[in-house]
Amino acid sequence: MTSMSPGTMAQWLRGQGSLVGKAPPFDLASLPDDPVELFVAWIVEAADAGVAEPHAATLATVDAAGQPDARTLLLKDVGPLGWAVAGRRSSAKGAQLAAHPVAALNFWWQPVVRAVRVRGPVAEATSRESAADLAARSASARAGIPPEDWVLWRIEAEHVEFWQGARDRHHTRVIYERRDGSWHRSHMTT
Ligand SMILES: Cc1cc2nc3c(=O)[nH]c(=O)nc-3n(C[C@H](O)[C@H](O)[C@H](O)COP(=O)(O)O)c2cc1C
Repeated sequence: MTSMSPGTMAQWLRGQGSLVGKAPPFDLASLPDDPVELFVAWIVEAADAGVAEPHAATLATVDAAGQPDARTLLLKDVGPLGWAVAGRRSSAKGAQLAAHPVAALNFWWQPVVRAVRVRGPVAEATSRESAADLAARSASARAGIPPEDWVLWRIEAEHVEFWQGARDRHHTRVIYERRDGSWHRSHMTT
């Protein structure tokens, strides 16, 4: 196993570089009104650019004591009802979502220098939808999971941020916020 002194480690980390991908064109003049539309375009572009498993994301939740937690999982669907993820009710995330039905979901697509942040309240899908998600998994992924323990959750996004990095550090952020059922969009270069 490789070990490094703290100073050497910091230097090694700086040497790893950042924002070394190639950002595709991003036309701020033709942004859709609905963030789902932009998300679908971006995840497909990420896949086309060679991102493996572009549907892998970090799901952050809050536990009963108010402490944050996060883990990697797969996006199961996205549409008008929100961003869907699935897992076991008996898991830490299951308990956390039961106590605090709110979450954040982050994507980072390195080759295209793009990241997406989704935040909002979480709703459990119907038991039929959860069962359908479990049934769609491979036999080995289903093994040992009682159907009542498998839940499809939807993040009903209220805040979605699209971030595209630039080598000159003039990063672009497009922010969608849902207020009174309508999306409001803003953008900035930071
Ligand atoms: C690429 C990847 C995809 C994963 N997909 C899922 C998933 O869709 N659902 C899930 O419950 N766990 C998934 N996991 C496992 C979770 O990261 C985590 O270990 C597990 O859900 C338990 O988390 P919890 O204790 O915070 O509930 C995935 C892990 C990786 C690395």
